Amino acid sequence: MKYNFDEIIDRSGTDALKQEALLPRWGRDDLIPLWVADMDFATPPFIMETLQKRCQHPILGYTNKPDSYYTAIINWVKKRYSWDIERSLISFTPGIVAGLAFAIKCFTSPGDKVLVMPPVYHPFFLVTKNEDREVIFCPLILKDRQYHIDFERFEEQVKNCKVFILCNPHNPGGRVWSAEELKRIASICAKNKVLVFSDEIHADLTFPPYHHTPFATVSEEAANNSLIFMSPSKAFNMAGLASSFCIIKNDSLRRIFKKFTDGSDLAEGHIFAFRSVEAAYNYGEEWLSQVLEYLQENINYTDRYLKEKMPRIKAIIPQASYLIFLDCRELHLSPKTLVDFFVDKAHLALNDGSMFGKEGEGFMRINIACPRIILTKALRQLEKAYHNTFE
Ligand SMILES: Cc1ncc(COP(=O)(O)O)c(C=O)c1O
Repeated sequence: MKYNFDEIIDRSGTDALKQEALLPRWGRDDLIPLWVADMDFATPPFIMETLQKRCQHPILGYTNKPDSYYTAIINWVKKRYSWDIERSLISFTPGIVAGLAFAIKCFTSPGDKVLVMPPVYHPFFLVTKNEDREVIFCPLILKDRQYHIDFERFEEQVKNCKVFILCNPHNPGGRVWSAEELKRIASICAKNKVLVFSDEIHADLTFPPYHHTPFATVSEEAANNSLIFMSPSKAFNMAGLASSFCIIKNDSLRRIFKKFTDGSDLAEGHIFAFRSVEAAYNYGEEWLSQVLEYLQENINYTDRYLKEKMPRIKAIIPQASYLIFLDCRELHLSPKTLVDFFVDKAHLALNDGSMFGKEGEGFMRINIACPRIILTKALRQLEKAYHNTFE
């Protein structure tokens, strides 16, 4: 491999959330942090060099979005997802969660219903509730260690909703939805006049042989009835740059969204936002394929380790991204004692599954985007705690 993902990088002194929030959140800082979704690998050199080059200039003034920024996005989605888009369809958003919050404000009113499929990335329902919209939960079905959509329930529940927030691919659980599944969602939503916000932040981290399908590409009705949120932030480990974008095919939806973001000056971006996205998409293919290989190995390793040493904890193997949902229900612990077990006995900071909705109770989410030696240390700590507690 050209890139070294085994390198251990000390993040202290960089205000890294993963590290700095240990004490306030868990009351101790001697935990291996395997929670918030960024990677402990170096951000790719071609992105760092771009930022460093810009910093060499002595003036940090207002910044234009260069043509090359749009071209990089257009080329990336065409090459990877066979999706033809034009520049005018792209709107900058300062992060995907911010973009979703703007869209909720634009397209719904207080009291409106918004559907989500738990267990799901918690800001989907937190942002919605925060705007006084009602959240409708349509839980996924866990079968044979994979999540599936309960289409019958979805069709029934979505009828009275204004919006469905789709996580494509899904977090946690890592399901890459097939074109057929997305087509079915599109048809149900179009029939019931439910707008779809598709969060595709994990798309570029899809593992072969799975293939990511942008929601808007599955049918004409999907294209005309959706907002697609994308960003290189997860795949290229640049989440701190808060640079993402929304692709909206439908003219009138796009006009409403742009009026809101431009009117409140929310889409200006910042000096590091555009060239970094461009660098990721223009030069990132080789790095991405290598990081995916490393991540897949970490996933396989974790799965093997659990099967051999801790069979009552079962990994839900992600088809995309580096977050593994661990099914710990066979430990028969309450949500609080499960977290205490991971923190006080194993000395690990993971995400408590219940934060993704009550369907996540009994689960923990581990972030395996770290050097293998750290992952091994974490799994050994877990194994020791497991044997001391359960055997
Ligand atoms: C599905 C999903 N959407 C959005 C985000 C966060 O995106 P941003 O930092 O751009 O708001 C995450 C981060 O983990 C995520 O998993």
